[in-house]
Amino acid sequence: ASLSVDASPLLAQKIPDTLFGIFFEEINHAGAGGIWAELVNNRGFEAGGPHTPSNVDPWSIVGDDSSIFVATDRTSCFSRNIVALRMEVLCDNCPAGGVGIYNPGFWGMNIEDGETYNLVMHVKSPETTELTVSLTSSDGLQILASATIQVAGSSNWKKLDHKLVAKGTDRTSRLQITANKKGVVWFDQVSLMPSDTYKGHGFRTELISMLLELKPRFLRFPGGCFVEGDRLRNAFRWRDSIGPWEERPGHYGDVWNYWTDDGLGYYEFLQLSEDLGAAPVWVFNNGISHHDEVETAAIAPFVKDILDSLEFAKGSADSPWGSVRAAMGHPEPFPVKYVAIGNEDCGKTYYRGNYLKFYYAIREAYPDIQMISNCDGSSVPLDHPADLYDFHVYTGSKALFSMKNTFDRTSRGGPKAFVSEYAVTGNDAGRGSLLASLAEAAFLTGLERNSDVVQMASYAPLFINDNDRTWNPDAIVFNSWQQYGTPSYWMQTLFRESSGAIIHPITVSSSYSDSLAASAITWHDNENNFLRVKIVNFGTDAVSLSISATGLQGSVNALGSTATILTSGNVMDENSFSNPNKVVPVRIALRDAAEEMEVMLAPHSFSAFDLAL
Ligand code: AHR
Repeated sequence: ASLSVDASPLLAQKIPDTLFGIFFEEINHAGAGGIWAELVNNRGFEAGGPHTPSNVDPWSIVGDDSSIFVATDRTSCFSRNIVALRMEVLCDNCPAGGVGIYNPGFWGMNIEDGETYNLVMHVKSPETTELTVSLTSSDGLQILASATIQVAGSSNWKKLDHKLVAKGTDRTSRLQITANKKGVVWFDQVSLMPSDTYKGHGFRTELISMLLELKPRFLRFPGGCFVEGDRLRNAFRWRDSIGPWEERPGHYGDVWNYWTDDGLGYYEFLQLSEDLGAAPVWVFNNGISHHDEVETAAIAPFVKDILDSLEFAKGSADSPWGSVRAAMGHPEPFPVKYVAIGNEDCGKTYYRGNYLKFYYAIREAYPDIQMISNCDGSSVPLDHPADLYDFHVYTGSKALFSMKNTFDRTSRGGPKAFVSEYAVTGNDAGRGSLLASLAEAAFLTGLERNSDVVQMASYAPLFINDNDRTWNPDAIVFNSWQQYGTPSYWMQTLFRESSGAIIHPITVSSSYSDSLAASAITWHDNENNFLRVKIVNFGTDAVSLSISATGLQGSVNALGSTATILTSGNVMDENSFSNPNKVVPVRIALRDAAEEMEVMLAPHSFSAFDLAL
């Protein structure tokens, strides 16, 4: 087989700077119990929200029915999340250690030896009392950190904070609050955050490191279906997710079926984009959920709401909403340049009507913002104005492999494609197989080759908490303290240099061409330029390949040239917590790199040959 690259400048095209990014959705506890480092689950006793009877899950009691009684009431000092927990200590001679409440976090809190944890809680106690706050093992028997806090008797709520330093490590710990004396204490908004979060912004550092490794050029957030909701009343509302964390009502995400306190809110997503050096892509609800829609005639307040969200992000610090952002600690505007008007709503009754209302209002107020339609314009022109259109694909590996040519046929004149969700799913993918990643890599080479009409692409979903495997597969798997990338994650690391690089035409001739997919780019790091030839061998045979390159700006230097190969013994191999590096790219020196060279492609492999120039 042979592959020739024509790298002459005449045929070279710049790939958009934004080509490869990430899509974060609050799914699989990706945010709550995931990248957002808050350890308390249901910190306001609000889970269930205003539309269902409130419940305290997963809070539980320390003690028994004869020593402790807890119930929620609506006496909180926070008007938007009015539910508080009333704890009545019934015992005169309480058991050693006291009685009270505990929170196990999200399947156990990861408490690490020597680390500091910031506890904040709002308390009201008519009588002066003493509370013991502790971090303990899941059964409460081992104490990792403990402190006593005096609460002066008062009819007013008090905000208490305390730093707890752990003496010991336990991955499944819990937070306990106990008392020894008969009496009543109310609690609300109890938070426990590790003091060490990424840039102090509340994100789990090791999960952020995995994102930084992808060098994402944009961050699409906060979903997906999470944005739509099964019902509109449960959709993500940016306004309820900003301001002091204690005052956020939280909401039940009824598509992925869990409560979130919205600690990871609109502001934090914008902050995350900034921390990652990624352009924010704000997907907002356009008045449409899975099961209900706002008629276009009534959409005006929703449009106003989204204009407010943009003023919050982009307005000056003295604008009404920009000042709210400034008060949260970010006087500089966030550079929102992309918004998606809904998610997967193209076929809905009021989509086009609602879309146009949002489109024209945003265009007028923010002419610099690019707007993304949910309607696929890859094969037929859109019937409405848009800067980009969403393209989503979840399918089997063979089907996705064969979609490497999909955008070859797209008209060059219309809006650009944003492949905002793609993945191999089903049996071929399992919980993240090599096979899935190979088909995805092949698809991405097609996006690179067609990056004159494809402006952005992101894999989905990004994260999964191993304890909530709602959607498989995903790019990054984690639990309270560990994380690993699936082959689909590692595959993406071989595309991170493509955004903003130069794409060159290639010709492949082979009897195996049906199972090969390839692209060629030039890119540079701080020191060198490289010609990178990427090739997926989707077949079961090894393929001997002659690579030749003409028109290069400089000669190939074997020193500094490398080959990076993603493969494994079995095409269905996956990574796991016990074997996180089973399927990861392996980089080797390419000693015989030259303008013309022979390489061997392993069966079921993805290779990137970097020729130093
Ligand atoms: O990525 C998972 C889901 O798939 C997204 O929420 C939705 O947009 C798509 O249907």
